[in-house]
Order: sequence, then C-alpha cells, then structure tokens
Amino acid sequence: MPLIAVLPGDGIGPEVTREARRVLEALDLGLSFEEAPVGGAGYLASGHPLPDATLALAKRADAVLFGAIGDPRFEKLERHLRPEAALLGIRKALGLFANLRPATLFPGLEDASPLKPEVVNGLDIVIVRELIGDIYFGEKGHRTTPDGLRQGYDVMSYDEQEVTRIARVGFEMAKRRRKKLCSVDKANVLETSQLWRDVVTAMGAEYPEVELTHMYVDNAAMQLVRAPAAFDVIVTGNLFGDILSDQASMCAGSIGMLPSASLAAWSGANGMYEPIHGSAPDIAGQGKANPCAAILSAAMLLRHSLEDEASAQRIEKAVAAALAKGARTADLGGTLSTAAMGDAVLSELQ
Ligand code: NAD
Ligand code: IPM
Ligand code: MN
Repeated sequence: MPLIAVLPGDGIGPEVTREARRVLEALDLGLSFEEAPVGGAGYLASGHPLPDATLALAKRADAVLFGAIGDPRFEKLERHLRPEAALLGIRKALGLFANLRPATLFPGLEDASPLKPEVVNGLDIVIVRELIGDIYFGEKGHRTTPDGLRQGYDVMSYDEQEVTRIARVGFEMAKRRRKKLCSVDKANVLETSQLWRDVVTAMGAEYPEVELTHMYVDNAAMQLVRAPAAFDVIVTGNLFGDILSDQASMCAGSIGMLPSASLAAWSGANGMYEPIHGSAPDIAGQGKANPCAAILSAAMLLRHSLEDEASAQRIEKAVAAALAKGARTADLGGTLSTAAMGDAVLSELQ
C-alpha cells in the first residue's frame, strides 16, 4: 500500500491540501496517508520548522504531498528556524533537483488572466526549474565592509554536473512534447550562466530532434507576457525559475492554478508535490484559496511517483470539467469557497 506523506504546512497550505487529499481518497487507489507538521507549524510543534519525524516520514514515504509554508510571525527568526528553511531542507535532503512547473490554460479561464484571451489561448508550457543549487544554496551571510558598512551576500554557482542533470530533464521533457526547449539564463553577465549555456548547448547535439534556443532572463520575462503560448519547455536555474513560474501563472489565470512536481529522478521516485504558491497570509483562514493547484499537484504525484497516468488524467479532466461548468474561486473571478471548489472537482470525478 503506497504511503503518502501529507505535509500541510501554514496559512492556506492546510486548506488546499485537504481538498487534494479528498480527491486522492475518492479515487480509491488503496493509498495510505500520514500527516506531519512542517514550516511554522513544525516550529510550533517542536521548535524546528523541519522536525526530525517529519523529514523521516518524507524519506520513508512513496511520495510527499506538500501544502505551503510561511508565517509572518516567524519572519524575524534566525534563517535556519524560519518556515522556508523546512522546504529548502526537504528539497535538499531528498535530492529533488528537478522541479516541473506546468502552466496550462484550462478552457474557460481565458478571461481570468489579465492578459488578452488571444495572448493566452493555447498556453501549454512547462518550466523545468533546477531546485537544489544556484544562489539559494551558495554561501551566504553578512559582514562589514572596510568602510564600516553592513553588507549581505549570497553566492550564485552551478557546477557542470548540476547543470547536466537538469538540462537532461529539459531535453527529455521537450522530446516528449512539442520538441522546443528554451534555456533561460543571464550569460551576458553571469559566469554561472555562461557555464549553464555551454553545458546545455553541448547536450543539444544529443537531441537533434529538439529545437534548442537560448534566451536571457529579462527577455524571457517580457516574452512570457508578449507571447507565452509560443514556449514549449523552458529550462532554467533555481532563482530565475522561481520568478518566471509565478509570472507564468498569471497567463493561466491565477497562481492558484499551478501545480508542481519536485523529483530526484525522471520518474518512479519518491518526489514531492506542491502548488507553486505560498501560504497566502492575506487570505488564510477564510476559505477563499483556490485548491486547484494542490489538486493538480496530486495528479502529478500519481503520474510521476506512482506511475498511474490514468488516475492522473482522471483528476485533470475533473478539474477541467468543473472549470468548464463555471466553478470559480475568488482569484478566478468567482464566489466558491475552497471546499466548494473541491466539491465541484469531486463531483466530476465519478
Ligand atoms: P503567496 O504565493 O503566498 O501569495 C501571493 C498572492 O497570491 C497573495 O495575494 C495570495 O492571496 C495569492 N494566492 C496565493 N495562492 C493562492 C491560492 N491558492 N488561491 C488564491 N489566491 C492565492 O506569496 P507571498 O505572499 O509572497 O508569500 C507568503 C508566504 O508564503 C511567505 O512566507 C513565503 O515565504 C511563503 N511561500 C511559500 C511557498 C511554498 O510553500 N512553496 C511558495 C511561495 C511563498
Ligand atoms: C517556491 C517558493 C520557495 C522558493 C520559497 C518559499 C523558499 O517561493 O516554492 O516557489 O523560493 O523556492
Ligand atoms: Mn516561488
């Protein structure tokens, strides 16, 4: 019986994860679930955002269903005690280097995006974000300059092995899709990016069927607004991928629509699945959050960790059907509560 670790976290994390779990349970796949606190909830329970028992559960499980972390009450704590440290800690401990962030426009949501319908029509892209390297995990700290000024620093770096493994995921993904891979970097300025571009370019020779392009990240941000549907697969580093995926979410109507899979291998491994959004303190506890990103993350869990493509598609079709009938939370211009949106998806599962 596959074990799913459920880590709801903070803010709207528990609210949206509840709906994702209900959908998984409704499929009757014989899954077992075990829940544990993480983030601010982990800190309150044990004095650390990533309690030992939570990490042990994540390691032992066949897959992790993650909500969101982040709590303004803990923003002033030392960095290693803040909620965010738990998320970065699990990603690192599980070796989840590949973060797949698909952004698709569900039919009927054309008007939910602030972009014109003709701009977002046909949107079906995947951002492949490197997840355990880059400026996130380099040396960081603060010091005093010779002039006596306070200075903060974060070192950005990638080695060629780190770039190679994520580039491989990008090419393999593109090969299975529309065969277009856009590698996004800042090679005109950063040495990290020059190495990135060299490694990706060399790998391109192994994939003659994939059309490889390179784009600077500033241009990519612009193109994602000008003509987002022109992209197929984007492969990029940790920081650029974080920013571009939030931006891409608005092409799909809302950040509440984008799921993600974080993987240590192409498939079959115990990955982690979470919406790309955070704990949304501004709407937490009000039943307003859109659970679609969490529900679609559960679909990705079935696809990538349990290799159950049919069940993954059942969930995705149920979300599409609910949206097609007009089910909308506030972020999509509707009035449904989080639970009512979950109900709408559940009623389409049958
Ligand atoms: P956020 O994603 O939490 O919220 C940004 C905006 O989007 C808010 O207005 C919020 O109400 C809205 N929003 C987000 N998810 C939504 C949903 N499902 N339905 C409707 N509206 C939604 O980003 P933030 O405000 O910058 O960060 C808040 C906290 O979350 C911070 O502590 C941050 O570190 C953390 N965070 C965690 C994750 C994660 O757990 N993976 C991701 C991003 C941010
Ligand atoms: C995300 C979040 C995290 C990130 C934060 C909360 C550490 O923004 O999952 O996109 O930057 O990776
Ligand atoms: Mn983010």
